Amino acid sequence: MKLCMIGTGYVGLVSGVCFADLGNEVICVDKNINKIKSLQNSVMPIYEPGLEELVNKNIKNKRLSFSNNLNLSIKKSDIIFICVGTPTKKGGGNADLSQIFSVAKEIRKSINKFKIIITKSTVPVTTGDEIEKIIKQKVSKNNFSIVSNPEFLREGEAIRDFTYPDRIVIGSNDTKSNKVLKNLYSPLISKGANYIHTSRRAAELIKYASNAFLATKITFINEIANLCEKTGVNVDDISIGMGLDKRIGSRFLRAGPAYGGSCFPKDTKAITSTADKFRIDLSVIKSVIKSNENRSNLLLKRVYEILKNKVKNKKISFLGVTFKANTDDMRDSSSLTMIPKLSKKGAIIKYYDPTGYKKEFKKYNKVEFMRSIDKCVEKSDLIIIHTEWNDFKSLNFKRLLKNKKSIIYDMRNLYSPDKMRKLGIKYFSVGRSD
Ligand SMILES: NC(=O)c1ccc[n+]([C@@H]2O[C@H](COP(=O)([O-])OP(=O)(O)OC[C@H]3O[C@@H](n4cnc5c(N)ncnc54)[C@H](O)[C@@H]3O)[C@@H](O)[C@H]2O)c1
Repeated sequence: MKLCMIGTGYVGLVSGVCFADLGNEVICVDKNINKIKSLQNSVMPIYEPGLEELVNKNIKNKRLSFSNNLNLSIKKSDIIFICVGTPTKKGGGNADLSQIFSVAKEIRKSINKFKIIITKSTVPVTTGDEIEKIIKQKVSKNNFSIVSNPEFLREGEAIRDFTYPDRIVIGSNDTKSNKVLKNLYSPLISKGANYIHTSRRAAELIKYASNAFLATKITFINEIANLCEKTGVNVDDISIGMGLDKRIGSRFLRAGPAYGGSCFPKDTKAITSTADKFRIDLSVIKSVIKSNENRSNLLLKRVYEILKNKVKNKKISFLGVTFKANTDDMRDSSSLTMIPKLSKKGAIIKYYDPTGYKKEFKKYNKVEFMRSIDKCVEKSDLIIIHTEWNDFKSLNFKRLLKNKKSIIYDMRNLYSPDKMRKLGIKYFSVGRSD
């Protein structure tokens, strides 16, 4: 099939290359010319394990191409996937749908034969109806179908998640497009993926409800971790004990910093704003948002306690600054709250992340990127393990610390408090009596 992905970001690029790898002809379009140019030269604009190899393979076999000519790419394709961003609107919680609607207006200029137009972007329930209205203003209803196919891939595991999804959700109000999409996804269905066909609105809502539920699980265990710290209980025991109940499941029950990333923070806000419009109070999700927003301050409070409230001129090293491991995505990472606040209090911050320097910290005084873990932790008063990269899971602290009495605050519980004690290291973690 001939596909066009509009928006070559984490979702558009990964799903585009994976569709190409399944044998389709795919054009990935982006309005960012630099991004397209770099992809044409096989330089990846994002860090995602396995992506570069798959892109190069599919460029070589001529199933994958990149373009910034939206109109021509649409004309050449049968199925159009909208994969542009849907960030939070400034000054509120609603999803900003301006990129979606501007793409819909572009698409309607280029419909030369029947097209299936799919939102892969996460959009509030009823957005498909709006897109349909926009296109219907210029194009006969017989020449297009609007479908919702939310994407569930996780950054860092994106290729695997796309190739072996738990489920594929297709929301369409007509049977024709459902048939075409079932065929498009048939290689994944035959490998065991569940295929669910729902109304378009239901598919839109499934995505938000799923993300809000996962965010709730994380926030839930984070709050339980707070209680564990006060009662001398190890939160990891709680996660295991709860997770073995099949009704609960063990995933997303790891206590740590506030959830971040490009999805949970904005999607929890968007679903509650959408519900408000329909006069429905999603009070559980609202309290999750509040609790999560407070989480970074809570962890910072612990940092201040650890440093006995003497933060000024303290050397603090951050190991990892992205919101999770295996991605370079900084969107809504809790480090974006913690580092500026510590810097404002006069701390001298060094950070190391396997995905390199982060422009987000450029404007802060005394916040410096270090090229190695060794350099980062050298002469440090406090080492904060912020992201659970494999690189940080078996560090030789004896060698790294060179007899300096650094303190470690492990926000991901990567190490055993007992072992650290035996090494003579002052060690703090999350939801455990250290
Ligand atoms: N990142 C994730 O892990 C993830 C997972 C599932 C769903 N989603 C959803 O998918 C959507 C995209 O997310 P992302 O992380 O890939 O975003 P992104 O910001 O990485 O990529 C969006 C791309 O769209 C391009 N774009 C914007 N307007 C355009 C236009 N008019 N024409 C062509 N290109 C245009 C931008 O230049 C950008 O490259 C969002 O709705 C997000 O919520 C993201």
